[in-house]
Amino acid sequence: MSETSSPLLLSTGAEIRAAILAARSNGETIGLVPTMGALHAGHVSLVRTAKAECDRVVATVFVNPTQFGPQEDFNRYPRDLERDRALLAEAGCDWVFAPSTDEMYPLGSDTMVHVGAAAAEWEGRIRPTHFAGVATVVLKLFNLAPANRAYFGRKDYQQTVVVRQMVSDLNVPIDIVICPTVREPDGLAMSSRNAYLSPTERQHATALRRSLLAAEELVAIGESDVEVIRARMESVLVDVDHVQYIAFLRDGAMESVDRIAGPTVIALAAKVGATRLIDNTLVGD
Ligand code: PAJ
Repeated sequence: MSETSSPLLLSTGAEIRAAILAARSNGETIGLVPTMGALHAGHVSLVRTAKAECDRVVATVFVNPTQFGPQEDFNRYPRDLERDRALLAEAGCDWVFAPSTDEMYPLGSDTMVHVGAAAAEWEGRIRPTHFAGVATVVLKLFNLAPANRAYFGRKDYQQTVVVRQMVSDLNVPIDIVICPTVREPDGLAMSSRNAYLSPTERQHATALRRSLLAAEELVAIGESDVEVIRARMESVLVDVDHVQYIAFLRDGAMESVDRIAGPTVIALAAKVGATRLIDNTLVGD
């Protein structure tokens, strides 16, 4: 399919599965990019990477109710399938799978994936049901769209750890590819939720990235004590309403470290006004 024609829009599991199995039986490799829509350049970069590495690309657009908490933004999460489809066409996507909630969770659905320690802390503590919802929908998408590779963004670091753990524990035959975080020119990590920010909040939101850059600078001059780094980050985060956590984690895992003695992910979550934002960086590599 050429880059200008619109990707085929499919809404049932039977259709997407048949399309993918037919392509695979022709020897084609398939890349899968799961999304919740409201697409931005971060999502597009995943599709472009998938297209560069696979013969065919399927993007999924589904605002997954099971990963939202009762007080969260499920109802007001931005939705615009026609715009998403145009962006996906430009990126060379072959199929868009956009199922209804009933298609994904028919009446009587009663099974969820339980994630262990990888989901317990950090995001998991603030959003206790979130990763069970993510792992469940991601496994369902892997089953409905049996691709060779699936592409995820490093911006949602804990999600990448949870997905890798689930794939390994449940013997899912798919390779997970993690892609770099795409940012706005001023450094703010792209996110569908950035649309919620007022102009003033949007300016304050740059503090997340600035705090991570300050941490990178300290590590570059030899600082390894995470408490020193945390204090410096907090001083940069003064404009942010509420810092929910700053975590120092062994790269690839959710295990905390107290010194930077190897590749370490610094992950943070903060509220800017009513909007929750997350970001992370890799240091000590
Ligand atoms: P969503 O937030 O739409 O993100 C879809 C994918 O895009 C995720 O892998 C996410 O990490 C990646 N992404 C988001 N912002 C990015 C950025 N600025 N740079 C690079 N990649 C970015 O994450 C989800 O949806 C859902 O939890 C999902 C996996 C689809 C399951 O419902």
